[in-house]
Amino acid sequence: MPESKSPVVGAEPEGARDRESAARAVRAMFTSIAPRYDLLNHLLSLNVDRLWWRRAARTFRHILSRADARILDLCCGTGDMAFALESQVGKSPAQIVGADFSHAMLERARIKSRRKGSQCLAWIEADALKLPFAGGHFDLVVSAFGVRNLADYDRGLREIARILRPGGECGILDFGEPRGAIGALYRIYFKQVLPRVGTVISGVRGPYAYLPASVERFPPPDEMLMRMKNAGFAEATWTPYTFGIAGLYRGRKTA
Ligand SMILES: C[S@@+](CC[C@H](N)C(=O)[O-])C[C@H]1O[C@@H](n2cnc3c(N)ncnc32)[C@H](O)[C@@H]1O
Repeated sequence: MPESKSPVVGAEPEGARDRESAARAVRAMFTSIAPRYDLLNHLLSLNVDRLWWRRAARTFRHILSRADARILDLCCGTGDMAFALESQVGKSPAQIVGADFSHAMLERARIKSRRKGSQCLAWIEADALKLPFAGGHFDLVVSAFGVRNLADYDRGLREIARILRPGGECGILDFGEPRGAIGALYRIYFKQVLPRVGTVISGVRGPYAYLPASVERFPPPDEMLMRMKNAGFAEATWTPYTFGIAGLYRGRKTA
C-alpha cells in the first residue's frame, strides 16, 4: 500500500524527527545566526524588510495609539517588528512585549532597545507554543516571520487566540510565493542566490537553505486563513506586500 503523506503540522528543519526536535533545531539555527541576523536580513531583502515591518505596524495604529493597549511581538528575534510598533504609539505609550525562545536573538533586541532609548518595551524569553501569559491578556499580537518557524502552526495560532482578549487582533507577517514572471525571477533569487550569500556571510551552513524550504512548506493564504478561523479568529484576511513576496494576515478574535 502506498504510504500516505502526513498533513503538514509545522516547520521541519533538516534532521527533525518530531515537534520537539524541530523546535530545538529551529532555536539552535537562529541562535547560530543571531550575530549576523540583522545585517543579512537587510542585505538579502535590499532593506525592503524595514518597509514591511513599518507597513504592518501602521495597520494597527488604532490599537497602538491607545495608552492602555497591551501588545505582544511574538517570535520577536532581534526586535525590529517591536521597534516598528513602538514608532506608532501615541504620547502615552502602550505596553509592548517582545517574546522569543532564542536567548541570543533576545540579547540583540535588548542591546538595540537600550541604544534607541526605548521607553515602552520589555523582552521575555518564552516559547510561542506555551506562552506564560494569562488568557485574554493582549489587545494585539503581531508576529513577523515567526509563525512559519513554529513546530506546530495550529497550536501557535491557538496560543495567539488564547492570549488575546475577545475582539483583540493579530497580525502575522510572513513570506509568500509570488506568481507569474516576477515569481519566476524571485524564485531564482530566493532559492539559488540567497542561500549561497546567506551561508557565506553568516558562516553557518543550513539556515539559509532552510529559509526557502520553510516558505514552500508554509500553507498558502487560503489555507492559512482557514486555519486562523479554526483557531478562533472570526475574521481573517491576507494582504500581499511587494507582489506577494510577503504578506500580512490579520485576524480578529471572536468577541
Ligand atoms: C525569522 S526570525 C524573525 C524575527 C523577527 N520577528 C523579525 O521580523 O526579524 C524567527 C524567530 O522566531 C523565533 N521562534 C521560532 N520558534 C519559536 C517558538 N516556538 N517560540 C518562540 N520563538 C520562536 C526564533 O528564535 C527567531 O528569532
